[in-house]
Amino acid sequence: MIYLNNAATSYPKAPGVVDAVRSALTDAPGPPGRTAAEDRSTLDECRDLIAEQLAVRDPHRIVLTPGSTYSINLALWGLGLRAAHRVVTTVTEHNSVLRPLYHLRERHGTSIAIVGLGADGALDMDRFKTALESGATLVAANHASNVTGRVNDVACLFSMAHEAGAVTLLDASQSLGHVPVHPEELGADLVAFTGHKGLLGPPGTGGLYVDPNLDLEPMLVGGTGVRSDLMLHPADMPTRLEAGTPNLPGFAGLAAALRWTAGPERQGPAVASAMAERLRDGLRTLRGVRLVDDDSRAQRVPVVSFVVDGWSVDEAGYALACSFGVQCRSGLHCAPLIHQALGTWPHGTVRLSPSAFTTTEEIARAVEAVARLAGCA
Ligand SMILES: Cc1ncc(COP(=O)(O)O)c(C=O)c1O
Repeated sequence: MIYLNNAATSYPKAPGVVDAVRSALTDAPGPPGRTAAEDRSTLDECRDLIAEQLAVRDPHRIVLTPGSTYSINLALWGLGLRAAHRVVTTVTEHNSVLRPLYHLRERHGTSIAIVGLGADGALDMDRFKTALESGATLVAANHASNVTGRVNDVACLFSMAHEAGAVTLLDASQSLGHVPVHPEELGADLVAFTGHKGLLGPPGTGGLYVDPNLDLEPMLVGGTGVRSDLMLHPADMPTRLEAGTPNLPGFAGLAAALRWTAGPERQGPAVASAMAERLRDGLRTLRGVRLVDDDSRAQRVPVVSFVVDGWSVDEAGYALACSFGVQCRSGLHCAPLIHQALGTWPHGTVRLSPSAFTTTEEIARAVEAVARLAGCA
């Protein structure tokens, strides 16, 4: 099997992840209760390593969550958006941003403006500027598209957003682990991220960075393992935004993944992006195969989307998996609006996404498989 579906979830995980998860489940927990030194140290280590990746000074501003969807909801609901508020976002967003926004609009009348792509396939900065002229409470932007891999120029977007007085939310689900995600440099007040994609950790892990000047309302309150004497949920970060028993085995695995990705042999991102380039180069030469958004000037994470003449994307994905053992993903990839902008609506694309562990031989075999589908081999 050739696994090229790492944008959905990474496989294999980073060395050390499986052992860390297993140990967290098989080793006896520390003294009873959530304040066990062992438990806290796993979470604290995770927070410290993430703070290091994000170049953030205070690890307490990192809230640990079950993943990006949770983090984005926590940010959007926690800002208390109502009818008087306006959110400017982009067509590159995943449903984990779009759907909470649509729900906020339905439930509270929050207005939403969605900025599209320019002729060059990048976000249309002029239309973005115009959208901000009508006022914005929040600008929510995807760092890297999970359909095209293109990295949005969020530093520029967020600088304009701040000038307009808006708070900024970055969806770093596809970028963290592949390209630098430094909130301070990017001007991101909130950064949602996930552990199971580019960080090569377990599913059910992730987090939300919250700028020190920003307070969010908790989405959940309850047990925290600390300050049980208080009637109300503790107000200090990160406990303010964390309630219930955390996914300790998951975070033990994520800490192992972060240790590996920060280690001396940290070749992961370079390998994954070289493999994606090789894949693009191979597919580009095939007659009957159209790469979707193939501008070589764009910065990208390792995601490659295409369509094959004469094949529906679902049939092509099925054939790649069943006849050639190439695991891919086909369809809209939970990001409906970008397909309208790219002309791949309503069926979407076939998507291949290599990782740090993909080999040149696997890429050659995947290109050969697509060539066979397209009738060029
Ligand atoms: C751009 C983007 N945002 C959000 C998500 C949701 O991430 P999670 O699986 O951690 O909830 C994904 C995952 O597919 C994604 O690609």
